[in-house]
This record gives sequence, C-alpha cells and structure tokens, in this order.
Amino acid sequence: MRVLVTGGAGFIGSHIVDLLVETGHQVAVVDNLSTGHFENINPRINFYKQDICDRAFTETIAREKPEAVIHLAAQADVQCSINNPLADASNNILGAINLLQTCTSYGVGKIVYASTAAVYGNPSHLPLDEGHLVEPQNPYGISKCTVEHYLRVYKEISKINYTVLRFANVYGPRQDSAGEGGVVAIFADKILKGERPHIFGNGEQTRDFVYVKDVAFAGIAALHRGDGGVFNISTGEGISVNRLFRELLEITGSRLEPVYKLPRPGDITHSYLANKSACTRLDWRPRYSLAGGLRETVEFYRQRLVAR
Ligand SMILES: NC(=O)c1ccc[n+]([C@@H]2O[C@H](COP(=O)([O-])OP(=O)(O)OC[C@H]3O[C@@H](n4cnc5c(N)ncnc54)[C@H](O)[C@@H]3O)[C@@H](O)[C@H]2O)c1
Repeated sequence: MRVLVTGGAGFIGSHIVDLLVETGHQVAVVDNLSTGHFENINPRINFYKQDICDRAFTETIAREKPEAVIHLAAQADVQCSINNPLADASNNILGAINLLQTCTSYGVGKIVYASTAAVYGNPSHLPLDEGHLVEPQNPYGISKCTVEHYLRVYKEISKINYTVLRFANVYGPRQDSAGEGGVVAIFADKILKGERPHIFGNGEQTRDFVYVKDVAFAGIAALHRGDGGVFNISTGEGISVNRLFRELLEITGSRLEPVYKLPRPGDITHSYLANKSACTRLDWRPRYSLAGGLRETVEFYRQRLVAR
C-alpha cells in the first residue's frame, strides 16, 4: 500500500514508518522537523521537509498519490498549548483541515488520525472508554478533539474514510527526554546519569503506559480496519509513578531515591483506558509487558549516553 505519514520524523511517527517499511509498504514522510529529528527518518522512504500547512504539501500529495495517510504531525506539548493556544490551533486544527482538503481533492482513501486521551479531561469513571464524555481541560485536548469532529463531518460530506486512535501515555526509544517529554524518557535519562528524578505528589497517581511499538502495530491495523471508529490505544492498566520508578531502578540496577515535589495543579490523579474496542474491531492488542518495553527503552537511552 502507498502510505504517507505526517510527523514521520517524530517519536511515534518514526516507529510507524519503520514498521510500514518492514511490512512491505511504500512510504513517504512529510515532517517540518520542528520537534522531529533527521536521524529518526528511515532511509528507505521518500522524505519531504515540509509543513502540512504549506502549499508544497499539496504538491507532495499529488506526486505521491498515497492510498492512505497516517496523520501524526502536530504540536503535541500540553504546556505549549496553554502558553500559545493560537499556535497550537493553527498547527493542529488548520493543519489538519489543509490535510483533509488536500486528501479529498487527490482521492486519498483513508486517514488514520493520532488523537489522545487528553480529549477526555477529568475521568468520571475508570477505565476511560470511548463512550466517556469528551471534555478536554487544555487547548491541546481541544485541538485534538476538534479534528476528530472534522474527520467525522468530512466522511459524511466527502466520503473520505478515517479511523481515530486515542493514544494513552506512549513511551519508548526516541522519545524526547528534554522539556515536557514523557515521564519514562525523563526518568530513564536521569537515572542513567545518576541524577535523582522528581516525582510530583506522593507518586501513587496512575497512568496507562503503552509501548511505542505496540502503538505502531495499532497504526497499521487501522489502515484496513475500524472505518469511521474511535479507539483507545492503551494497556487498560493503571501503573503508579512509584511503580514505574521502581521498575526502572530494577532494570538499571540503580539505588537512587526520587525527590518528591508538591503535586502540580491540574494533574489528574488516576487515568487508564479500556482497550476492548481496539481488541475487537482492530484485532489489536498490546504485546509488550511494561518490563519488556522499559528494558528496550533503557537500552536506547544507555546507548545514546555512550554515543555522546
Ligand atoms: N507521545 C504521546 O504519549 C502521545 C499521546 C497521545 C497522542 N499523541 C499524538 O501522537 C502524535 C505524535 O506525537 P509524538 O509524541 O511522536 O510527538 P513528536 O513531537 O515527536 O512528533 C510530531 C512530529 O510532527 C512534526 N510536525 C509538527 N508540526 C508539523 C507541521 N505543521 N508540519 C509538518 N510536521 C510537523 C514534528 O517535527 C514531529 O516530527 C501527535 O499527533 C500527538 O498529539 C502522542
């Protein structure tokens, strides 16, 4: 299949691209490298350093004629969306509308969209299922769920197919350990450097940590399944930050103690997502255990430290 991946130089996108190439697909990537990295780009694909909001993007779609687009390119930092909601909306909403317009004009059959658990806001029940109220608590969550609505409406009007994947907390190799980053990336990087990570609150808050290679399998499953559907991509299990820290200590053989800090205002205490729909309709399930995913992740950060 000819597949174009937006954001394919980023953390999740680059793993999806690698799996697409490995499974025999013909792949093109569009990425403006705003947070993505050139070294993440698979050498066996056509790469376009472009912004999805630009005119050149239309020419790329016309040239590559993808049958499907996996759309990951986005401003993905919650704090940035709070500091600069205009930039967030411009990238995430206007960029997606430009993509939808272009894809419908050039006969793209399907869009697989990377959405997020942030669309739900504060859970009224756990696990969060796809029927849970959508009430995002930050501009990033708003921009992501707005695009879900556009996809639904475009399917009605223009007959372009789609599947929405709402990712839980994705972790794994290539995740940025700087800035906001993922907690796994930050902890692994600090522990390997012998620095004490900060834990906000008492550490008993839970999150649903899903390994990036499992997310890549979900992205590819959605190319052929789940038309017009919205699916959580998650493990279904809440893991406390303290447990995550302990698992990382065991893998690294470290004895560091964390530094407990005051809880951050607005942080949700517990969050984990049901994945039954994805199991049934996408024929997908997470294959990696937490320990298995963490071991591969730690190995990546260890090698990166040695290379520096
Ligand atoms: N990491 C997570 O835990 C998580 C959870 C839920 C949803 N998501 C979603 O998954 C997607 C990928 O996230 P990620 O963690 O890999 O982030 P990332 O920042 O590593 O990847 C985003 C990629 O998109 C590119 N990009 C951004 N704006 C662009 C634009 N206008 N034109 C072209 N390229 C652009 C960036 O350069 C980067 O390579 C995002 O849509 C994000 O909202 C991520």
